[in-house]
Amino acid sequence: MSGHHAHSEQDEKAAAAMFEPEGWDERYAGQERFWSGKPNPQLVAAVDALAPGTALDVGCGEGGDVVWLAGQGWRVTGADFSAEGLARAARHAEQAGVADRVDWWQVDARSFAAGTRAYDLVTSHYLHAPDGGMADVTRRLATAVAPGGLLLVVGHAPSHEFTQLSESHRKAMFLAAEILPALPDGFEPVVVEQRTRTLQRDTGPVEAEDSVLLARRTSGD
Ligand SMILES: C[S@@+](CC[C@H](N)C(=O)[O-])C[C@H]1O[C@@H](n2cnc3c(N)ncnc32)[C@H](O)[C@@H]1O
Repeated sequence: MSGHHAHSEQDEKAAAAMFEPEGWDERYAGQERFWSGKPNPQLVAAVDALAPGTALDVGCGEGGDVVWLAGQGWRVTGADFSAEGLARAARHAEQAGVADRVDWWQVDARSFAAGTRAYDLVTSHYLHAPDGGMADVTRRLATAVAPGGLLLVVGHAPSHEFTQLSESHRKAMFLAAEILPALPDGFEPVVVEQRTRTLQRDTGPVEAEDSVLLARRTSGD
């Protein structure tokens, strides 16, 4: 990618393609190891004190959060549009000895329909719809939350580091307040904020901001 200068149409197309299933499949099918095995900190903060129930993690990738939740006693469905990501996730669940508490669902969050599925926790971390579509994704995810259950949506907040990348990267980022209006009636916001997180990079620690929306479904309507 061409750094902080204006992007050609071709660069932009290549950047947009990175966000599609083929782009993710290519990455997950390759040799590169992304797996840290650690759960995302905003997930741990939100559910640590909860009694385990059923959970859905959309955009679960290699399954770090799915495996962690299952290890805490949750019954978890990991959803992703990348078949290769789900295959890696299933291997990790097997290795962690939690395969009997997880299942997998290949689905695109942009056309996702919960149907009769209802979970005590619906979570999504860094899914990054490139077309500014996180509000729509949030609206869809909310339909899968059981009454009394929680919805947790986390992504990168807009930052200088990311805005230098591409139009697609830029549109994939959001502030918690921007997806708040997507909550349907019957939801009560619990957390709507940006939180600083420290990333360990080769060059040393880097501060990043997570946008965090946590909401509870208070009623069935
Ligand atoms: C940056 S990774 C994050 C993975 C994991 N949630 C984590 O925090 O480590 C984004 C994941 O979202 C998936 N994804 C992106 N857009 C999606 C969509 N529209 N529907 C379903 N999955 C999607 C990708 O395949 C990828 O596995």
